[in-house]
Amino acid sequence: MRVVIRVDALVPGSRLLRDVYSQHGALLLRKGTILTQEHVQTLRDQHLDEVVIELEDGGNQTPLSVGGVAPGDPSASLASLGHSGRVAVARRPGGAAAPAADPGWAAARSRSEALRPYENALAVIRQATETLRTSGGQAFPAQEVDAVAVFVVQEARRTYRVLSLLVQLRQASDPTFIHSLNVALVAGLIARWMGWGKDGMHQAVQAGLLHDVGKSLVAPEILNKPEPLTPAERAQMQEHVRAGYELVRNASEVSQDIALAVLQHHERMDGSGYPQGLVGEEATFLSRLVAVADVYAAMMADRAYRRRLGPFRAAEELEDESFSRLDPQITRVFLDRVAAFYVGSTVVLSDGRVGQVVFMDPREPSRPLVRVEKEFIDLSRRHELEINDILML
Ligand SMILES: [Fe+2]
Repeated sequence: MRVVIRVDALVPGSRLLRDVYSQHGALLLRKGTILTQEHVQTLRDQHLDEVVIELEDGGNQTPLSVGGVAPGDPSASLASLGHSGRVAVARRPGGAAAPAADPGWAAARSRSEALRPYENALAVIRQATETLRTSGGQAFPAQEVDAVAVFVVQEARRTYRVLSLLVQLRQASDPTFIHSLNVALVAGLIARWMGWGKDGMHQAVQAGLLHDVGKSLVAPEILNKPEPLTPAERAQMQEHVRAGYELVRNASEVSQDIALAVLQHHERMDGSGYPQGLVGEEATFLSRLVAVADVYAAMMADRAYRRRLGPFRAAEELEDESFSRLDPQITRVFLDRVAAFYVGSTVVLSDGRVGQVVFMDPREPSRPLVRVEKEFIDLSRRHELEINDILML
């Protein structure tokens, strides 16, 4: 029997009856493939939510019922954060199931649905920040912050999702809080890669969510100013670390370590940071971890005054920063894992040719070895060439 089935209800052993494409339109799995556990995980990580398979009579998988299903309520609620992996099934008008191998339609639909839990998380962060700001730090919305942190910790277990969402979320609707969410995701990822357990990840994620909470007290004209800030404006902007610390330091739910990360995330190892100009390991380890996540997330985002750097350039700049300003140990762990992640991705070179990254030296991440058809191009030697774009992760 031919059925359309939700990816989150899929079990290994099913045979695909259609080719499956990624959101970028690249062929992921061919028709006829018998799905393994790894295939199923890949489909989930790609945010695809349904495929067409052959179902044995009496099989134990649940096909989609016929008829439209109302999309989930997009309004923010804590409950909605608990459903990150179970998106509502969208159907074409008229109730016909969407073919899995319709990359254009599937991409538009599954991207917006895949982003919905993040939009919900953003709305919860926005509300929580407002509560903190208006109460002057007297009312800490512990339940809300905790719910978002639990959600982000879950997401930070999936490297593909975090690193690809850093790209997607830059276009979402609420730039003020996207950065905090991205920093929380990257901080959670780094904490996992450093071998911290669930509690450690939770701590890192909370620090990421709260690190810029003091910006809620900075005048919007300064916060959103597209031109470079004057020295006086810069001083006001820099006050966000002390203001944020004041907002969270008295909350019994916020550990001293998290409060210090709010205060110290702009300190730099060479003493060039603020507010105290701490040197070396005077800033806490968590503060230094949030600093790495903050810098990377900022480089991956479009800002009013400059375009985002691609992941290869961002990794290279982070590498440079790690010599004097950022903690080299934390940066090393992060860059080694990021480099490994981008091996296999499809890139466009500055001469227009498309190739695949086959090796990345974490010390020179923007100059990997790229295979274009049968030719291997070593960008660490071919300085006239660079990577212009990523077509597919
Ligand atoms: Fe900051």
